[in-house]
Amino acid sequence: MLNYGKHWIDQDDIAAVTKVLESDFLTQGPEVLNFEKNLADFLETRFAVVVANGTAALHLAVKALELEKGQQGITCPNTFAASANCLVYNGLEPAFVDIDEKSYCMDPAELERRITRRTKVIIPVHFAGQPADMERIKDIAFKRNLHVIEDASHAIGSKYENDRMVGACCYAEMCVFSFHPVKTIATGEGGAITTNLKSLYDKLILLRNHGITKDPSKFKIDLSNPPNPWYYEMLDLGFNYRLTDIQAALGTSQLKRIDAFIQRRREIVARYNEVFKNIPWLTIPYEREGVFSAFHLYVLKIDFEKIGKTRAQVMEELKAKGVGTQVHYIPVHLQPYYREHFGFKEGDFPRAEQYYRQCLSIPLYPKMTDADVDQVIHAIMELKG
Ligand SMILES: Cc1ncc(COP(=O)(O)O)c(C=O)c1O
Repeated sequence: MLNYGKHWIDQDDIAAVTKVLESDFLTQGPEVLNFEKNLADFLETRFAVVVANGTAALHLAVKALELEKGQQGITCPNTFAASANCLVYNGLEPAFVDIDEKSYCMDPAELERRITRRTKVIIPVHFAGQPADMERIKDIAFKRNLHVIEDASHAIGSKYENDRMVGACCYAEMCVFSFHPVKTIATGEGGAITTNLKSLYDKLILLRNHGITKDPSKFKIDLSNPPNPWYYEMLDLGFNYRLTDIQAALGTSQLKRIDAFIQRRREIVARYNEVFKNIPWLTIPYEREGVFSAFHLYVLKIDFEKIGKTRAQVMEELKAKGVGTQVHYIPVHLQPYYREHFGFKEGDFPRAEQYYRQCLSIPLYPKMTDADVDQVIHAIMELKG
């Protein structure tokens, strides 16, 4: 069965993890620092803070902004729930702006229309690996003095129009990543926040570890000199969102192969595009001029009416031929929680809803062989009898 996405673990990864298992540290040892340094270097940013998963990264990134409860944050409906949940975790009101019909990312014109006086933070999502239009989003945010956190969970290795890495934080205060196994590099569970601001970095490090510090220069109560060797202070209400050394070693090992992973992803995308581009009932993904997508997902839009089948039938038919598919995404505002708590309803974001009716992610991961790719292509082409 070909899943829509999958990790690729090799002997070097296994050796890297085994080495940690035989060492003195299982969590928060040298491998965490090493992974953070390697990530920051790769992403061309000053600081990377690794955490337990991408959801934790979003939670901490919003928390680090120290916004007042009841203020508003805006993200996109075409995303995983976590992009909006992080606002709610922090007592903010979640709001959405509709997507651009071609890129499936946040539409900056819609963003401009939806900003209110209570809006304080914007969370664009680089959907499927394609960078959102950050030039325009940053301009809008800058004019109104709003914070920006990029949800780059899908986009490690992607580049903006200016050829800078997504994650370099040239358009936002923070960028957030996920290393879930379907993502471009995997640590099992895992996530990261990048920033160029030391003040945010310090806050994130603190919040990741219960809000506790052992750094005497930050102590507020016991200022003994020399400091007491057993002493620590809890300065804020943080969490245990630590990544382990085991995961970090895997992350560093995976990062060594990221360029090859992305190259293979793009080869597969090119092959799919070549075959599917002239099929009247299919719409292939669009890569915005000038950007470089690491292609976390390959999303086809399928005109189910034209082929006379429902999406469920199509998924079943593909599954019977060994082709796994998934839907990315049910618009977040249509989830019962968001309807019940915030009053969202069908029709609020028509482009994301229309996109949702037709989208289907087909298998895309670097370990796919050419024969696997052909198997997917044949199964798709046979959908219309
Ligand atoms: C866009 C987006 N943001 C955030 C997350 C959360 O990441 P994690 O699963 O690592 O918590 C995901 C995960 O699927 C995602 O796709």
